[in-house]
Amino acid sequence: MNASKISARNVNVFYGQKQAISDVSLDFDSDVVTALIGPSGCGKSTFLRTLNRMNDTIANARVEGRIALDGEDIYAAEMDVVQLRARVGMVFQKPNPFPKSIFENVAYGPRIHGLASGSAQLADIVERSLKRAGLWDEVKDRLSDSGTALSGGQQQRLCIARAIAVDPEVILMDEPCSALDPIATARIEELIHELKGRYAIVIVTHNMQQAARVSQRTAFFHLGSLVEYGTTSDIFTNPRQERTKDYITGRYG
Ligand SMILES: Nc1ncnc2c1ncn2[C@@H]1O[C@H](COP(=O)(O)OP(=O)(O)OP(=O)(O)O)[C@@H](O)[C@H]1O
Ligand SMILES: [Mg+2]
Repeated sequence: MNASKISARNVNVFYGQKQAISDVSLDFDSDVVTALIGPSGCGKSTFLRTLNRMNDTIANARVEGRIALDGEDIYAAEMDVVQLRARVGMVFQKPNPFPKSIFENVAYGPRIHGLASGSAQLADIVERSLKRAGLWDEVKDRLSDSGTALSGGQQQRLCIARAIAVDPEVILMDEPCSALDPIATARIEELIHELKGRYAIVIVTHNMQQAARVSQRTAFFHLGSLVEYGTTSDIFTNPRQERTKDYITGRYG
């Protein structure tokens, strides 16, 4: 059986009385980048957050339905949420490094999860993660500088290194390039290409060109519903739904 890495079934999300996601079912596979697109307010971030229970941190949010990681219900009472968020890492719109050194930003997760048996191994994990995030050459001589002293694009790669350091299986990215200039954006897109062989990646983006460049599958959301899901080339060149066509041709959003 070739089961999906993450499988969402009949997911509803409410903020108080207001429903933000309606009956969404969607699967995500390893080695695949899936783009979530749709107009502002359609529920992309809300849905993304269901995949690692980040909605738990929002007081009035309520999630219904089933989301399984490798077949295991992530909303089950016995699920360790800290562990879950290491397995399903997240990168936010605005780079949010800890106000700590570059080294500590990356070392923190492996340390609290007990992934290194000593300082040499921890240093190895930090180096490997920064290399994989394409940041090592720029920071290797200043690992004790503050993470917040880096440029925006470097900070975002640091946040990606931090997510990678705990050996995740899935990486969620919510508009990871929207605060970055075109050069830093291109760097992150390259990185997504390099990372996709190792993880399931789910990326929210407002940038249609970016979705077309980095993803193999695309899901189009509108008003809290999943309108259409398919290969990125089908969604962009041959959408079946009128609403999808209107959105990708820039008629609204
Ligand atoms: N914490 C919250 N409390 C109440 N309503 C919320 C909350 N977060 C989001 N919403 C509402 O849920 C709906 C979906 O919001 P969400 O942020 O998921 O949309 P989005 O597609 O990510 O939009 P954008 O592209 O602007 O980031 C919106 O109507 C929004 O106002
Ligand atoms: Mg959003």
